[in-house]
Amino acid sequence: MKLVAFTSFKGGSGKSTTLMAVASILAETGVKIACFEADDNEPLSAWQEYGRQINTWDDNCHIFGALDVDQFGASYEEAEANGCEIGLIDTRGGGSDLNQAVLINATMVIIPTGISVIEVDEALETLKYVVEFMKAMKIARPVGISVNRVPTGKLSKSEEDSLALLREMPTLDAKLPARRIYSEMKSLGHLHLYHKALLETPSKRIAAGHTQVALTETRTFTDELMAALEGES
Ligand SMILES: Nc1ncnc2c1ncn2[C@@H]1O[C@H](COP(=O)(O)OP(=O)(O)OP(=O)(O)O)[C@@H](O)[C@H]1O
Ligand SMILES: [Mg+2]
Repeated sequence: MKLVAFTSFKGGSGKSTTLMAVASILAETGVKIACFEADDNEPLSAWQEYGRQINTWDDNCHIFGALDVDQFGASYEEAEANGCEIGLIDTRGGGSDLNQAVLINATMVIIPTGISVIEVDEALETLKYVVEFMKAMKIARPVGISVNRVPTGKLSKSEEDSLALLREMPTLDAKLPARRIYSEMKSLGHLHLYHKALLETPSKRIAAGHTQVALTETRTFTDELMAALEGES
């Protein structure tokens, strides 16, 4: 099973939301996925609970506890035994033993960020830390930044500058714009099933236009991520 870790020093950088978006697309395409909860706020469990309540939970997606190193190890074995093909790890900010175990075992590391100056600085700090940690551990794995919460209207000069700076870095081209559908993701379950539910409700078909846009951009994002993961073992 290949593992993608979503990590950052900074809290609120979009780790959980980006993971949920990617998990929706993978589940939609029939990939059996394991989402590892390495954050004791347990946002993924809450997401599953909401999704089950409103029938938008895709059973291709399995949530596993990974709140400490031992539980992560046991969950990894269980996910493999269950035939999960891809694992997505949601971490908590900071440098703990658990986060180091995640980095050592990840096939690829993604550092989500918004585009404010402070957030980009933090993302670059995290990137530097991860690269140096891997060097010290003598492991070479792809590490990339992913951008979320890009305003859909006109960007300010400093936002344009942030994007220009990020283009010089190992940053995914596909970005997740700032949209309400993403900020509400935790209570909506899987994006594709939520979209389907909207389409089936006549009074909500207009709203389905927004979920369609989000699904399209999330598919593009996931495709790029999976292409980067493809050559890795
Ligand atoms: N593309 C987006 N559009 C709009 N809002 C977003 C987007 N991505 C994330 N958010 C919002 O930004 C906030 C932080 O996102 P999220 O919880 O995913 O970050 P996190 O890195 O997992 O945070 P934590 O460190 O607390 O675990 C949340 O309120 C979320 O709803
Ligand atoms: Mg989170």
